[in-house]
Amino acid sequence: MHALDIALGCKAAPHRSWLLVGAIVTGVTGGWMLADPGEWPGAAGTCLAQEFLGPTEIVASPDVGLLYVLCQDAARIAVVDRQKGELVRWIPVPASPSGMVLGRDGSKLYVTAGMGDGTVCVLDTASGNETARIPVGHSPCGPSLSPDEARLYVCNRFLNRVAVVDLASGQVTACVPVIREPIATAVTPGGKTVFVANFLPLDRADEFDVAAEISWFNADTLQGGRIRMPNGTTDLHDLKITSDGKHLVAVHLLARYQMPTTQLERGWMNTNALSVVDVEQHAWVNTVLLDDIDLGAALPWRVVCPGDGRVYVSHASSDEVTMVEWQPLLEKLASLPKEASSGVAYDGSQTSLTTSDVPNDLSFLVGLKQRFPIYGTGPYDYLEQPIDEVPKGPRGLCVVDGKIYTSVYFGNMLAVIDPAASPHRRVSYLRLGPKAQLSLERRGELFFHDAALCFQHWQSCASCHPDGRVDGLNWDLLNDGLGSPKNNKSMLLAHRTPPSMWEGVRPDGEAAVRSGIRHIQFAIRPEEDAAAIDAYLKSLQPIPSPYLVNGEWSEAARRGKELFSSNRLHCSQCHPEPLYTDLRKHDVNSRGKFDRASEFDTPTLIEVWRTAPYMHDGHYLTLEEVFREGRHGDVAGEVEKLTDQELHDLCEFLRSL
Ligand code: HEC
Ligand code: HEC
Repeated sequence: MHALDIALGCKAAPHRSWLLVGAIVTGVTGGWMLADPGEWPGAAGTCLAQEFLGPTEIVASPDVGLLYVLCQDAARIAVVDRQKGELVRWIPVPASPSGMVLGRDGSKLYVTAGMGDGTVCVLDTASGNETARIPVGHSPCGPSLSPDEARLYVCNRFLNRVAVVDLASGQVTACVPVIREPIATAVTPGGKTVFVANFLPLDRADEFDVAAEISWFNADTLQGGRIRMPNGTTDLHDLKITSDGKHLVAVHLLARYQMPTTQLERGWMNTNALSVVDVEQHAWVNTVLLDDIDLGAALPWRVVCPGDGRVYVSHASSDEVTMVEWQPLLEKLASLPKEASSGVAYDGSQTSLTTSDVPNDLSFLVGLKQRFPIYGTGPYDYLEQPIDEVPKGPRGLCVVDGKIYTSVYFGNMLAVIDPAASPHRRVSYLRLGPKAQLSLERRGELFFHDAALCFQHWQSCASCHPDGRVDGLNWDLLNDGLGSPKNNKSMLLAHRTPPSMWEGVRPDGEAAVRSGIRHIQFAIRPEEDAAAIDAYLKSLQPIPSPYLVNGEWSEAARRGKELFSSNRLHCSQCHPEPLYTDLRKHDVNSRGKFDRASEFDTPTLIEVWRTAPYMHDGHYLTLEEVFREGRHGDVAGEVEKLTDQELHDLCEFLRSL
C-alpha cells in the first residue's frame, strides 16, 4: 500500500480542535490513510477520549448546510457544517439512540432511544436543548413525521406495532399492529398513508413461500393492509417514498434459502435487492437485484430518494453506496411483458425478459446503476490493509447538492462521495472523532458484518444472522448432510450452550464460527479473525423481553413459571435454569420428513420471544403451536391436558425470558 497524498487542514494548525479533517484520497492503489489530529472537541468543549462513536444515521438540514449524525454508541449527535467540513457541536441524547427525523424547517430533531423504556426525545436544534421527552414503549425506532408535523410515527420493533404520537400533547394516541419487527416507516407526501417495513418474515420456515412484508395504514382510519414481498425476502431494512409520491422503494435481502449452501456464485445463497411498490395501489411492482453477476452488494441498509431522479442505497457489508437511475428503471420495468410466455413487451418490441424474471436477473440494472466503494476504487479485499485504518460499515445515508454522505459505523467518520469526480478523487472523509483502536469484540463485530470475508462479497454473517439473531428462514447447510434444511439459530449464548447446531454436529460455538467462515463464506481467514468473532458473539446480551410488565414478569408469566418447573410438566428437566438447556440432545418426537436424525440439541429458551418460527425445522410459528399442535414436552400426556389459560400462562413465561 502506498502512503497517500492527503489534504489535511490540521497539519498546519494542530490545535484547531473544532475543525474536522477532510482527507481526500489520491492514491491509485485503492489504499488510504487518515491522519489523526490528536485533539478532539468533546461535548462541553472537553477533549474526546478515543471511543467508538458508532455513527448510524445522518440527516441534512433543509437550508443551513448542516448535517446531523446520530452516534449510537456515544449517545450524541454530531452537528457538522457541510461546506466547511467543521464539527459545529455535539448534542447529547438519551442512551441507546436508534433513529431520528428532522422537522421540515430544521428547528426540531426527534430522536428515538432506549429499549424497554423507550422514548422520543425532542431536540431544539438551535440550542441543542431537549424540549420534551415522550415515553413511547419498548424498542422504538424508524420514526417519521406527518407532513403537518402534528404526528410522529414510531415503530415499536419488538411489540410489532407502530405508535402514533400526538406531538402537541406529547402522548401516544394509538398503536397500529403490524407484522413482525417493524423497523422503518415512510409517510406519503400528502400524509394520507403510512408504510412500514417489517424486518423479518412471519411464516413457518418449512413452507414454500417465506417472505417479509410491508404494512400500510391510512393515517385517519388507522386501517390498512399488507404487501407481500417476493419469496425469500428478509432483512427488510428500510423504505422511502419517491419525491413524486407515486412509488415506494424498499431494500432487503432476497435469500435463495431453497438451495443447498454449496456455493456462492451468482448469488446462490443471498442476493441483495430493491423492491418497487405502487403507492396508490398498495401493490408490489417488482424487485431488482443490486448485485453484479460476480460481485455481491451485501446488506442494503438505508435507501434514500433525494428527488434528483435517483435512488441511493448504502451497503453495510460491502462498504459502498449504489446509485440507481430511477426513471430509466421504471421505464424498463414498464416495458416488460407480464406473461412469461409471450416475450413481447406492451409496446410490441421483443424482449427476452418478463416481469416475473426480474428478481432473478443479476444484469437487470446494468447501465442503470453505479456502485461507489467508500474506499479505494473497488472491487477490493481489505486483507492487505491494516484493519484499524479502513473505513468499514456505511450505514446512515443522505444526499445533498449532488454529494453522497454516509456515516461509517466502524470508522468514527463520514465518507463523502462525489459521483461527478474521477474515481480516484471521488471519496473524501470527515472525521467525527479520533480513531478508536478496535477492541477484540469490536473487531469481531466488524468481521461479522463484513462481506469481504465472503467469496465475491455476496453476504456477511450478519446477512443470515442480523443483530446476531435469526433471519426467519430454513437453510440447507451441508454440515448435517444435504437435503435436511434447518431453522436459523441465534448467536446469543451460542458459546455457552454447546454443542452447536440443531443436530449438535459442531462441538461448540468456536467450532461453529470457524465452520461458518470456511463452509458458508468459503473464505480462509487467520485464526485471530475467528477469535474476534467469538469475542463479539460472547458479548451479545439478551434484550429485556417486551412481554415484561415494568421490567417484571407478569402475573401470567409467574403462573407459567410454576407450571414450567412443576412435576406435572417436567420442562425444566431438559430446560434447567439459568440457560434453560441441559446441553444435551433428545428425541422429543419432532422428527420431520426431511430429517435423518431424531435427536436434536435442546435450545436455550432465553429470548425465545424473538426467534420464531420454532424447532429445528421452523415448523411452528407460535409457541402455542409448539405445544398444542406439536405436543412438545408431553412426557406424561400432561401437555395435552393444559387448559387454554394454562397454555397461555406457560407461553407468557417463555416469552418473558
Ligand atoms: C446462509 C445463511 C448463513 C450464513 C451466511 C451464516 N450462517 Fe451461521 N447459521 C445458519 C443456520 C441456518 C444455522 C443453524 C443450522 C443448524 O443448526 O443446523 C447457523 C448456525 C450458526 C451457529 C451455531 C449456533 C448454535 O448455537 O447452534 C453459529 C455459531 C454460526 N452460525 C455462526 C456463523 C458465522 C460466524 C457466520 C459468518 C462467518 C455465519 N454463521 C454465517 C445460517 C448462516
Ligand atoms: C426431553 C427433553 C425435553 C423436555 C422434557 C422438554 N423439552 Fe423443550 N426442547 C427439547 C429439545 C430437544 C428441543 C428442540 C427440538 C427440535 O428442534 O426439534 C426443544 C425445543 C423447545 C422449544 C423451541 C425453542 C426454539 O427455539 O425453537 C421450546 C419453546 C421448548 N422446548 C419449551 C419446552 C417446554 C415449555 C417444555 C415443558 C412442557 C419442554 N420444552 C420440555 C427438549 C425438551
